[in-house]
Amino acid sequence: KEITEAPIIIIGSGYGGAVSALRLCEAGKKVIMLEMGLNWEKSGIPYSNLLKPGKSSAWLRKKTIAPFMNLFSLTPFTGILDRLEFDHINIWVGRGVGGGSLVNGGMAVTPKESYFKEVFPSLDTEKFYNHYFPLVREELKVNVIDEQFLKDCPYYKFTRVGEEEAHKAGFKTMRVPNVYDFKYMEKEFRNEVPRSALNTEVIYGNNHGKNSLDKTYLKKAMETGNLEILDLHKVEHIKLNNDKSYTLNAQQIDTSGNVIADKIFHCKKLILAAGTMGTLQLLLQSNAINDFPIHENIGKNWGNNGNFMTGRNWVKPLSGGTGTKQSTIPVGGIDNWEDQEHTFFTEIAPLPMGMDVATALYLLINRVDKKGEVTYDKVNHLLKLNWDESNTVKMRENAKYFVRKMNKANGGTRSHFLFNNGFGADICYHPLGGCVLGEATNEFGKLKDHDNLYVLDGSLIPGTIGVNPFVTITAISEYCIENLIKQNEFA
Ligand code: FDA
Repeated sequence: KEITEAPIIIIGSGYGGAVSALRLCEAGKKVIMLEMGLNWEKSGIPYSNLLKPGKSSAWLRKKTIAPFMNLFSLTPFTGILDRLEFDHINIWVGRGVGGGSLVNGGMAVTPKESYFKEVFPSLDTEKFYNHYFPLVREELKVNVIDEQFLKDCPYYKFTRVGEEEAHKAGFKTMRVPNVYDFKYMEKEFRNEVPRSALNTEVIYGNNHGKNSLDKTYLKKAMETGNLEILDLHKVEHIKLNNDKSYTLNAQQIDTSGNVIADKIFHCKKLILAAGTMGTLQLLLQSNAINDFPIHENIGKNWGNNGNFMTGRNWVKPLSGGTGTKQSTIPVGGIDNWEDQEHTFFTEIAPLPMGMDVATALYLLINRVDKKGEVTYDKVNHLLKLNWDESNTVKMRENAKYFVRKMNKANGGTRSHFLFNNGFGADICYHPLGGCVLGEATNEFGKLKDHDNLYVLDGSLIPGTIGVNPFVTITAISEYCIENLIKQNEFA
């Protein structure tokens, strides 16, 4: 087997991985990044849109795996969207160079300061709000839609109707920033450039407009000349050596998923940035295979960030509903976080199905009163998630309250068209926790019981952050890597 030696290896190219790569490369360190998904930018293969799913639409599946309406057959390909299925919850994740930034809706929300403080009592809140959050908003190219464009553009009727209805029901709304370049979108609308958000592109990738990580952090890291990204390389398990270095077993695959090479990597310093579920899988699986040491807090304090989907049918059907054409990029939210009884934030989500389905879709983000735990079934070699309906009781109550109040003020019914009973309790886009900062790691993400192993991704956040999480994941990663470098961890 081919053995590659590297001083520093990062597994995964999502937010945590991209931030670590940039800061280490800027500090003059040579880094190898292993990513199981494809480097789409390099491959030149275009992404598909929602109405014509193709190569990019699913990770090695014969059928699409969007949250609903999966009528399309596929030829298995290393697409960018994957779905991890557990008994009571399905978790969607991104695969490819750029991780979740390739599939997500780009909503770039800074958490409420008071909630951030509650979730991370030991962090310097002031430093985060004065330094790390502004820094990452700049690096990620966060911007806000122009209000006049929003008012005039037929593709945002769903947002205008959503906000109007929310106000009528007595809810407060807020503008949601995004990494999609809204100036580009305005040009799309005027037909001056190829269309992306206005052409139903999002969860299978955006060919234009979206500043995903390959256009921001990873691009800058590549420009230092110190980063090498090996795509289609899936790390299977990790071994701790006597000299406290790590040996990684990886498989290189082709775009049909066939293994084309078994490879071994050896490194002194290892950063796990495989996303919450990927990092937990690597740690727990390695523990099952070779007794890889793991701290007792690994897997604990996991949550779905309060994700709970719901929808309403026949929203304003007589006045043209939510619009035949919809932009895929959400810009509106309903902020009910101050309500102690029903605490939630919800995104006014698009449903760009190419026809007016007079349906409003919402992704609620709630508190997580009861956390779950990720474990490993050594007999069947499967990741297990201790999570069921008891974990989402309050989220369901909030969704019911929300829909009832909206329907009372505006008419409409719970959407049975999208979900059983109108509720998608099992839909999760934001898995968080399991390697919680300060619990399974030290204060900067270095794993307990290890000298040369670090975790930098969503698993550091204890299951909840109250808003869409990537801005927080990026900020926490900036904070950790800055301090780890300062402490000479990578000297
Ligand atoms: P992330 O998951 O981004 O990256 C991990 C990478 O590691 C992946 O590329 C994966 O392929 C790779 N990997 C895993 N295991 C590996 C292995 N064994 N070997 C090699 N590579 C491996 N958030 C938000 O703030 N705003 C939003 O609008 C949305 N919208 C949204 C929509 C959809 C459909 C999804 C699925 C998710 C979102 N999110 C979101 C969530 C957001 O995308 C997510 O929280 C972050 O991408 C998580 O970042 P991480 O750095 O933790 O890992």
